[in-house]
Amino acid sequence: MSLTLGIETSCDDTSVAIVDSRGHVLAMLSQSQDLKHQEFGGVVPEIAHRNHSLALLPLVDQLLTKAQLTFKQIDLIAVTNRPGLQGSLIVGIIVAKTLSQIHKIPLVGVNHLEGHILAPFLSDDQFTPIKTWQPGIRGLCLAVSGGHSSLYEFIEREYTVLGTTQDDAVGEAFDKVAKLLGLGWPGGAALDKLAQNGNPKAFEFPRTMQNKGLMLSFSGLKSAVLRVTEKLTPVELNDQRADIAASFQEAACDTLMQKLALAVSLKKPQIITLTGGVSANSRLRFLATDWARQQKLMLLIPPIRYCTDNAAMIAWAGTLKWQQGHTDDLSLFASPASLSGDFKFEN
Ligand code: KG4
Ligand code: ZN
Repeated sequence: MSLTLGIETSCDDTSVAIVDSRGHVLAMLSQSQDLKHQEFGGVVPEIAHRNHSLALLPLVDQLLTKAQLTFKQIDLIAVTNRPGLQGSLIVGIIVAKTLSQIHKIPLVGVNHLEGHILAPFLSDDQFTPIKTWQPGIRGLCLAVSGGHSSLYEFIEREYTVLGTTQDDAVGEAFDKVAKLLGLGWPGGAALDKLAQNGNPKAFEFPRTMQNKGLMLSFSGLKSAVLRVTEKLTPVELNDQRADIAASFQEAACDTLMQKLALAVSLKKPQIITLTGGVSANSRLRFLATDWARQQKLMLLIPPIRYCTDNAAMIAWAGTLKWQQGHTDDLSLFASPASLSGDFKFEN
């Protein structure tokens, strides 16, 4: 059994984890920078990379102590090298390269999105997925986060993009609507909580891109919410906040579910997975679980700790790459975007 140290610093979460060759997480430590960016209403790249550089090495030390391991027992270092904020990625890559050189451990760069796609197959002492990763596995993944909203078909580690957002990611829409409702940043989880006290039918918000196959779009939905809030006085807005949150969330989740159902009817996958920060949303989790049960489909949704950005998914994706013979050397670079060869696109 091999062990991989994963390092994730692509945006504003500093995360490290140790995962074995079956995708079992031995330990994970993550440090959120939310409070440091909150007053600016979004991630400030300079603040993010400065904090990664302060937090990362001490976090690796704490992780090894927690797992009662030393570098001698680590077989691979996996680090996110794309896509993400350039400065933040560079901090993770420099630390990974340094540790790899000092301790003579192979290094592999990982696409953050591949990490999200593989996250539903992670296990730990508290959680085992209903289906584990295996050769030839064929599935369909809805990956929804603050930076991305896409549907992928996968056959093992080969990924085809079936549809993607034409503008905002759904998590971005959650964050912008949360801001309009005075919920702070990032507001997805707070909006989810507020919506539990609201009426999802109070406002009729659009279900976007209905006749556009597997294309997604969320800027129209966000603008529709803005138009409603602009017409309300501060007192009215305050009174109707929960209804607006619930109605927006319902429209966003309905749209995602329609697209997921369409993709499943077209591709007939063995397994369906939901991943990324927005898959932490309680309404989306409920709708997807209920639909899969009715349709007798196998659906995997990871626990929330593996939905949002985390290093376990990076360690696991790196392990699978390494098992297929991939490693990187000191020329590994940070790329703000995915490389053209990372995914195939269905047209
Ligand atoms: O995957 P992630 O941690 O980072 C990116 O790769 O973007 O996703 C973060 C996004 C944010 O937009 C955040 O507001 C959203 O996930 N999010 C949620 C919930 N928890 C996090 N959105 C809706 N409901 C939630 N419970
Ligand atoms: Zn992410």
